[in-house]
Amino acid sequence: MNKLAASPGFLHGGDYNPDQWLDHPEILKQDLKFMQQAHINTVTVGVFAWALEEPTEGVYNFGWLDRVFAEMAKIHGHVILATPSGARPHWLSQKYPEVNRVDENGRRHTHGFRHNHCYSSPVYREKVRQINTKLAERYGQNPTLLMWHVSNEYSGECYCNLCQANWRRWLQRKYSSLDALNRAWCLSVWSGLYSDWSQVLPPSPLGETKVHGMDLDWKRFVTAMTIDFYQQESQPLRELTPNIPITTNFMADGPANQQYTPMVGLDYSKFAKAVDVVSWDSYPEWHNNYETVAETAMKTAYIHDQFWSLKQQPFLVMESTPSFVNWAQYNKAKQPGMHILSSLQQLAHGSDSTLYFQIRQAQGNSEKFHGAVIGHDGTTDNRVFQEVATYGAQLEKLAEIKGATKDVHVAIIFDWESQWAFDRGGGFGRPTRLGIQTLQKHYAIFWGQDIACDIVTPDADLSRYKLVVAPMLYLQRPATMQALQAYVAQGGTLVSSYFSGMVDEDDRVLLGGLPTPLRELFGIKRRELDTLLPGEHYHVRYGSKIYPTHDYDEVIEAETANVLATYTDNFYQATPALTQHHYQQGTAYYIAARMDRDFLTAFYAKIIAKLRLANSFVIAPSYEVSCQTRFQNGYQYHFLMNFSETPKTVKLQRSTLDLLTGTPVEKKVSLAKYGVMVLREKA
Ligand code: GLA
Ligand code: ZN
Repeated sequence: MNKLAASPGFLHGGDYNPDQWLDHPEILKQDLKFMQQAHINTVTVGVFAWALEEPTEGVYNFGWLDRVFAEMAKIHGHVILATPSGARPHWLSQKYPEVNRVDENGRRHTHGFRHNHCYSSPVYREKVRQINTKLAERYGQNPTLLMWHVSNEYSGECYCNLCQANWRRWLQRKYSSLDALNRAWCLSVWSGLYSDWSQVLPPSPLGETKVHGMDLDWKRFVTAMTIDFYQQESQPLRELTPNIPITTNFMADGPANQQYTPMVGLDYSKFAKAVDVVSWDSYPEWHNNYETVAETAMKTAYIHDQFWSLKQQPFLVMESTPSFVNWAQYNKAKQPGMHILSSLQQLAHGSDSTLYFQIRQAQGNSEKFHGAVIGHDGTTDNRVFQEVATYGAQLEKLAEIKGATKDVHVAIIFDWESQWAFDRGGGFGRPTRLGIQTLQKHYAIFWGQDIACDIVTPDADLSRYKLVVAPMLYLQRPATMQALQAYVAQGGTLVSSYFSGMVDEDDRVLLGGLPTPLRELFGIKRRELDTLLPGEHYHVRYGSKIYPTHDYDEVIEAETANVLATYTDNFYQATPALTQHHYQQGTAYYIAARMDRDFLTAFYAKIIAKLRLANSFVIAPSYEVSCQTRFQNGYQYHFLMNFSETPKTVKLQRSTLDLLTGTPVEKKVSLAKYGVMVLREKA
């Protein structure tokens, strides 16, 4: 068993930068005292400390880090030790300029910022190997070391000559012949045919921007190179510390952009296979002015569930803020109660930690106004510190839940490659692609009724789910279609929609309409797709109600499917908008238009009833009060969370034990605004 799995209780703490306070020994002493008061048991150190660890080439300075290990040992805490490749020292960029990234316009960047090295550079890889080896040799056997945090938030791309050469090698391995490449990318369009491998460049605004197959392969290549860099940088850690688990912190997209989704830049389903534990940095925009707190909670829940699903194992929240961030347009404080609610939400969805950025607020430079556990006032006598400390004490009462699993019967399919292709393809409505946002609309129906969901890739084992939701699965390989067919044939229930099965893995359109396996599965024929303008709606009659359509209306024809809903207007009036097809032992539904929450609620209500998916603990769940459950050692742990602005009463099927207060709880509970309870019962 690795060290993390063996360590009892949840991790509480986060990024700690004593390296910013070395000339303030009194502050470092105070930190330790404050950490104990906040029930902090874990620090992540050294994330950006390379310049301190190796001030000049080959000269190392670890005294300050030795002290952190010694101090954490005193309070029986853990150290998550980072490798420093996320930000390199000046001397390195100066002596070896090749380590600086080249952007898509071919410009070599000078030193600065972070997360911007070339991932091909042999010199950079070697320098990283050296420093990582030193760290592993020095701290690998230290009992306080819990885990490796490799680099930080990998992202971005490099277009230097070394990366270009790797790109061509990667393509040569994939395609073997130029002919195969020319065919895969459909290069007979616009005279794009290559006659020599040396002509193959990366996509660039100065050159090729229109070859969809190239863009898709480039994204695959960037993921492959990033993982390759990570693997090489982890090599000395794996060799010298086989019992210490390795992670790197994944990200989400767009928290300050009115959307919140897992990051799509790197294929995390591939990256997850290379880490021992999935971890991610969670920064939802609570209390914003474009949606309710419950909506923010739903999107955050979706991301947690996706990071759970990558390994079907507890993940870590590696960073979150105790109060506010500094990089949004408006950096709002969390309202009283939100810190504890949002942190327990992490646990509810499968996290085994609440870690922060950061423990002590920086005095200067770019993140000086980012929230932290210990603020500029340097006291414990403030709301943020108090809430963190209260939460830390609560976590200790919940220790037995660490490592607990989940019991999930609904899966939503998300595929990074399909998302890349879908976003890239021209045509249709450019601002209304909304791939993940649409998945979140489906997810919201289940989240709102406290029905747990996994978010899985098409190659997951679907047979363990009663319901698989796969709308807009644009790119489909033959294997994906076979898997969907097999799942339904064996008794599964599948929901899909317009935009599914449109292109192959090279982003070439699948000819002949809906591909045969899908046509057999759904019992329909695809005719055409109408893109609607903003504000333009047609309508669908479903049961006794009429619902508006949004953005896309697909025209289909039922072959062997039953028609459950029809369009009421436009040139496709009276044609099917929702079909159901019994395929061998199972059932496949097809939604032809983009529908809103009311329609989806009505549609899924029947499926939820038929498949008996309803939450078996909460009576009549409400959207704003969420219940998520984890399972361990014969117990179920229900997290009841009130994401509304008012107190709520929740009716429950059974009486339980309130783990935070240690008192029995009747079948009816009251939650304050932003209130949360953790209830235990025998499974
Ligand atoms: C990211 C980084 C951290 C810090 C935080 C601030 O998650 O990993 O180093 O900059 O953002 O929110
Ligand atoms: Zn490069």
